[in-house]
Amino acid sequence: MKFNFPVETLTNINTPFYFYDMELLNATLDAVASEAGKYGFKVHYAVKANANDRILQAIESKGFGADCVSGHEVQKAIDCGFPSDGIVFAGVGKSDWEINLGLDNNIACFNVESIPELEIIDELAGKKGKVAKVALRINPNVNANTHHYITTGLNENKFGINQWDLEKVVDVLSVLKNVELEGIHFHIGSQITDLHSFRDLCIRVNELQKWFVSRQIMPKVVNVGGGLGISYEQPDEQSIPDFESYFALFNDLLELMPGQELHFELGRSLVGQSASLLTKVLYIKEGVQTNFAIVDAGMSDLIRPALYQAYHKIENLTSADEEEKYDVVGPICESSDCFGKAVLLPKTKRGDLIALRSAGAYGEVMANQYNLRTLPKAYYSDSI
Ligand SMILES: Cc1ncc(COP(=O)(O)O)c(C=O)c1O
Repeated sequence: MKFNFPVETLTNINTPFYFYDMELLNATLDAVASEAGKYGFKVHYAVKANANDRILQAIESKGFGADCVSGHEVQKAIDCGFPSDGIVFAGVGKSDWEINLGLDNNIACFNVESIPELEIIDELAGKKGKVAKVALRINPNVNANTHHYITTGLNENKFGINQWDLEKVVDVLSVLKNVELEGIHFHIGSQITDLHSFRDLCIRVNELQKWFVSRQIMPKVVNVGGGLGISYEQPDEQSIPDFESYFALFNDLLELMPGQELHFELGRSLVGQSASLLTKVLYIKEGVQTNFAIVDAGMSDLIRPALYQAYHKIENLTSADEEEKYDVVGPICESSDCFGKAVLLPKTKRGDLIALRSAGAYGEVMANQYNLRTLPKAYYSDSI
């Protein structure tokens, strides 16, 4: 057991709850800042990965911007102290009130995904006498080699402007008075562990840059999105992702034009390893092949295993007996409410404290109240 905190401190807290390792979070943020800083790259943290106030404040305090995908995320970023000129707003279906919120707060950029959206932003900006900065989100048709639910950069995905529509988009842009092209934007998917996908993205971006140059258009910003994965299998051995190789790859392969800035929108890799979901065992129930360890956390608290068949390392923090196999399941009335099948754990009993590791990204933020359950609370290593 490598869980990095005195377990006695945690056993008296009502479960389930998210537990954040703030030291690890800060060390991860420092690593990103230092590796991206080497090349002058700018990182906007993808708020969707974790919108907890304490986490956002920690990220803001290190000087990162915010990448938002809803009006409420934009508002939350502002409330947590992100300067509005460090906020970018993406998303395939922005409502009018969300666009107006962005305009009223003079955010840095709208990442635009279609011609109709571009026209509405132009119309709403015009009504306010403003000029909105926009980046075109282009679908690069690059395979991220990740789960199909978190693949976003293929032609068949709903995201981005397809390359064969670019000519039309550029024509529309040239006649709109209240939008100004700031950049081009890409995002191919999430939990990408094979850096070859990012190499393919660089090659495609270089080709597209040439297309823009041939039309005398020079976007000020190239935004390559997020997607860098974390090790769910080895949260302790690889607690901080390899940001050095990641940023070096873009520095080596992406051909920026003079004066162009390179932006990133990393989410999972900044926060993923910084939290565990802690839960207690309610019952051990005999199964046909494997016994069930029924815990008090369910898919409403951490939906990733049910939604993406995602793996989270499971540890029993309070038993050191001989190992046995368990199906670790929650109390929710769905068979998909299962955190792991045939998981080797020390002999487990009612009351044992279980950690579901690497739950800092797309964990607490996706929690819901299905079965009318209460939302999980959060605790922090520096204030417990
Ligand atoms: C447009 C956009 N940018 C950034 C991200 C963040 O991705 P990740 O958390 O994998 O870094 C996402 C998430 O899928 C996204 O959709």
